[in-house]
Amino acid sequence: MDDATTTLRERLSAVDQQQVLRFFDALDAAGKDKLRKQLLALDLDEIDELAEMHVRHKTPVAIPNDIQPVQMYPQRPHAGQERLYADAIDRGNALLKQGKIGAFLVAGGQGTRLGYDGPKGEFPVTPIKNKPLFRVFAEQLQAWSRDAGRAIPWYIMTSDANDAQTRAFFRQNNHFGLNPEDIFIFQQGMMPAFDMLGHMLLAEKDSLALSPDGHGGSLRALHKSGALADMRKRGVEHLSYFQVDNPLVHCIDPLFLGLHDVTGSEMSSKSIPKAGPLEKVGNFVMADDALQVIEYSDLPEELAKQTNPDGGLKFNAGSIAIHALRVAFVERLNASGKLDLPWHRAEKKVPYVDDKGTPCEPDKPNAVKLEQFVFDAIPLAKNAIVLETDRAEEFSPVKNAEGNDSPATCRRDQIRRAARWLRAARVQVPEKDGEPDATLEISPLLATTEKQLADRNLKLEKVSDGQAVYFDENGADVT
Ligand code: UD1
Repeated sequence: MDDATTTLRERLSAVDQQQVLRFFDALDAAGKDKLRKQLLALDLDEIDELAEMHVRHKTPVAIPNDIQPVQMYPQRPHAGQERLYADAIDRGNALLKQGKIGAFLVAGGQGTRLGYDGPKGEFPVTPIKNKPLFRVFAEQLQAWSRDAGRAIPWYIMTSDANDAQTRAFFRQNNHFGLNPEDIFIFQQGMMPAFDMLGHMLLAEKDSLALSPDGHGGSLRALHKSGALADMRKRGVEHLSYFQVDNPLVHCIDPLFLGLHDVTGSEMSSKSIPKAGPLEKVGNFVMADDALQVIEYSDLPEELAKQTNPDGGLKFNAGSIAIHALRVAFVERLNASGKLDLPWHRAEKKVPYVDDKGTPCEPDKPNAVKLEQFVFDAIPLAKNAIVLETDRAEEFSPVKNAEGNDSPATCRRDQIRRAARWLRAARVQVPEKDGEPDATLEISPLLATTEKQLADRNLKLEKVSDGQAVYFDENGADVT
C-alpha cells in the first residue's frame, strides 16, 4: 500500500469511517483512483462532526422563539414610495448598462419528483415551441443584454450528476445564441449519504453514495470554482439568482435589482402571497431581529395556520427562490475558508452495497442526506429586503409530473400571462369558461415584460377562437 493510501486509511479510522475502504485492495487502478478522489474532496473532520450532530443525534433545525411577519416592499409603490421606485428602476437599468449584473442559475438538483431523466433545464416547457427551460432563460438574457448594449454574464451551477449533459446541451444548441465566453458553468460540491449509524455509504465498491450538497452549496462553489474571481475581473457587483424550474421568472428585473442596490441590501428576495397555509414554499419571517426563511416543513403548523383579524394568513410571505446577491457578500461568506450555513437532514432511500458487496435497493429510508440552503444566508446579510410580487406574473414551477406545479399547470400559467400581456397591448384575446381560448407564446426576444410588449408595434389586433399564436421579433405566427 502506498503512503498516501496509508494516510487516508488512518485519517478515516480516526473518524470511524474506515469501512469505505473495505473493498479498496481488490479494486483496479481506476476504481482506487476514483474512490480516493471522492474521499480527498471531503473535509473528514467536518464529516465526523456532521455524522455526530445530524445522524447519530438528530439535532433539530433551530426554530426561533419569537417569529413575526415580515415587512415587505409592495409590488407597486405605496404613497410616498414613488420616487424610491422610480430611482430604483433607473439604478437597475444603469447597473445593466455598466455591466455590473450577472445572472445566476442553480441547476444542480436531481429533479427526482418530475421523473425527467436528464438535467431539468432540458425539459421542454413552452406552450407552442416547446422551448426547454434553459432556452427560456437564455432568450431573456439575450434580450436584456441587447437592450443594455452589454453582455450579461451567466453563471450556471450544475452538479456531478448533470454537468457533462448540461454542457453538451448548451453546445448542441449553439449556446442558444449567447456568446459562450459569457457563460460560466461550474459544479457544486457533493455530500456523502450516511447510514443511520453515521457511516458513509458506498454506492459501488469504488464509489461513495454522493449527492449534491444543496443550493446553499452554490455560495461555496461560486468561490471554489473561480466564478467570483471572474465576476471581479468583469466588474460584476450583483447576481440575479433563480432556480431552474420556473419559466415565468424574470431573470432580470431592474426594479428588484435597483431596490436591492439603493437600499444597501446584501441579499434580497422576492415573495408572493401563499396559496394556502401549508403551501410547500419557504416562509419569510422576522425572528431574532433578522429576516429569515423558515422552510415549509419546519414552520410549526399552528403558526402556518394563524390568521389576521381580516382573515388573511399572518405568515403569508412565500419564498419563490428569487434573490439578488452582492458579490462582496458572497466573498465575505467565504472569507474564513468555511461557509457557515446550517445543514438540513433528510431521511431518504439510498441504494448501496452491503458488507458482502451486494447492491441493495432499500424499500424504506435507510440513509441521511445533508443539504445547505441558500436562503439560510439571508440572516447573515446586512439590510436584507423582500419585494412582494405576483404569482401569476412570476411563479409557476415545474416540479411534479402531475397535479400542482406540473408541466400542465405551468403551460396554463404561461398562456394566461401571455393573454394578460397581449390584452394590455390592445390585442383582443378570446375567452372560454374564464380561460384564454387560444394557445399563446411570447418570445422573450420580443418582450420580457408586459410593459415592453405594450411598447412594441404589434400588427395583430385580434387572436381568433382556438388559434395557436407565437409572437416573436418577426411578427405573429398563427397556426
Ligand atoms: C424550493 C425551496 C422553497 C421555495 C421553492 C420555490 C428549498 C429547500 N426550498 O423548494 O423554499 O419556496 O423552491 O420553488 O430549496 N438545486 C441545486 N443543487 C442542489 C439542490 C437543488 O442546484 O443540491 C437547485 C435545483 O436544481 C432547483 C432549485 O435548487 O433549481 C430548487 O431545488 P428543489 O429541491 O426542487 O427545491 P424545492 O423543494 O422545490
